[in-house]
Amino acid sequence: MILVTGGAGYIGSHTCVELLNAGWEVVVFDNFSNSNPEALARVERITGRKVNWIAGDCRDRAALVAALQQSKAEAVIHFAGLKAVGESVEKPLSYYDNNVIGTIRLLEAMQACGVKKLVFSSSATVYGDPVKLPLTEDHPLSATNPYGRSKLMIEEILRDLQRSDSSFGVSILRYFNPVGAHTSGLIGEDPQGMPNNLMPFVSQVAVGRREFLNVWGNDYPTIDGTGVRDYIHVMDLALGHLKALETLEAIYNQQDRRFFQCLTVNLGTGQGYSVLEVVRAYEQASGKSIPYRIAARRPGDIAACFADPTRAIELLGWRAKLGLPEMCASSWHWQSANPKGYQN
Ligand code: UD1
Repeated sequence: MILVTGGAGYIGSHTCVELLNAGWEVVVFDNFSNSNPEALARVERITGRKVNWIAGDCRDRAALVAALQQSKAEAVIHFAGLKAVGESVEKPLSYYDNNVIGTIRLLEAMQACGVKKLVFSSSATVYGDPVKLPLTEDHPLSATNPYGRSKLMIEEILRDLQRSDSSFGVSILRYFNPVGAHTSGLIGEDPQGMPNNLMPFVSQVAVGRREFLNVWGNDYPTIDGTGVRDYIHVMDLALGHLKALETLEAIYNQQDRRFFQCLTVNLGTGQGYSVLEVVRAYEQASGKSIPYRIAARRPGDIAACFADPTRAIELLGWRAKLGLPEMCASSWHWQSANPKGYQN
C-alpha cells in the first residue's frame, strides 16, 4: 500500500494509474485545493481498481498519522504542494507553510509510524539559471523565487534527515516540464484560472477558450529566439515514479544500508524544444491554428533548460519514451474531450 499525497492532482493522478497497473494498492491524501475528486473516479475507470482517498491537509500531522496507520502504507509518494511561481512571489508564507511545513509534518508522521520510504516531487527549478547544459544532478543548486526556494529547502531537509537516519530511504525526483495527458483522454492537467505554463495555455487557445498565445520573448540565444525546455510526457513521468519506488524498495531490502544516500534523479528526456516548435507540433496534432504574438520576456525566465537523463537510465532503468507529437496529441485528446476540465 502506497500513500500518495496530492494524488488527485495532475502528476499524482497519472502516477496512481501506473501504481495500480503495476499491482500496488494506493490511498490518496489530498486537500483538493487545486484538484478534483473526479480525477480519482476516472483513475478507477482507467484501471478498473479501487482508489481509496482521504480529504486531508499535509499540515495536519494527526490526520497523516491516522492515514498511515489505517492504510498500513509502507511508503509515501509526496506530490502535495503549491506550484505557481508568480503566486509564490506574492504569497511566500503560503508557499513555505504548505510546501515546507507540510513536508515536515509528513516526515514527522512517517517517523511516528515507522514508515521509512519516501519519493519526493522536486523540480528542475532547483538548478536556477543553468551555468552548464545539459543539467546533471551535481549542477549547483539555487532558487530565484519562493516556490523554487521551498523545493530547495525541502531537498535540504530530506538530505539532513537521511544523514541522521540511514534507514530512511528517500528518492528526490527533479522534474523538467511535465505535459500531455493519459492516452484515454480521461485525466489530464486542469489548471484553475489563467494557465501559467505553456502547454495548457496552448491547448486552451486550440480549443477556443483563449484568443492567442503570448510568446514571452524571441530574443534569447536559442534556435529561434524563444525559450527552450525539456518537455516530458506525464505518462513517462508517472512511470519514473514507479521505477524510483521499486529501486527504493530494492535498496531498502538489502542487508547493509549504511551507505545509502538520497536517490536524486532528473526526470527529463534530454531533448529541448523552443516555444515555437511546441506551437507547430500542437498545430499538427490538433489540426487547429494557434495564433500567437511576441511579447516581452517574462521576468525570471531562463533561455534554455534541459536534462542529462543518464543517471535515471543507470540507476532506475528508466528513460522517457514518448516524444513531442505524443505529448501534443494526448494533451489535445484530453482538452477537446474535456474543454472545461473536470467541471463537465
Ligand atoms: C515554470 C516555472 C518553474 C516550474 C515549472 C513547472 C516560471 C518562471 N518557472 O517553468 O519554476 O518548475 O513551470 O512546470 O514560471 N511561455 C510563453 N507563453 C506562455 C507561457 C510560457 O511563451 O504563455 C514560454 C516561457 O517563456 C518558457 C516556456 O514557454 O520559455 C515554458 O514555460 P512554462 O511552461 O511556464 O515552464 P518554465 O518556465 O520552464
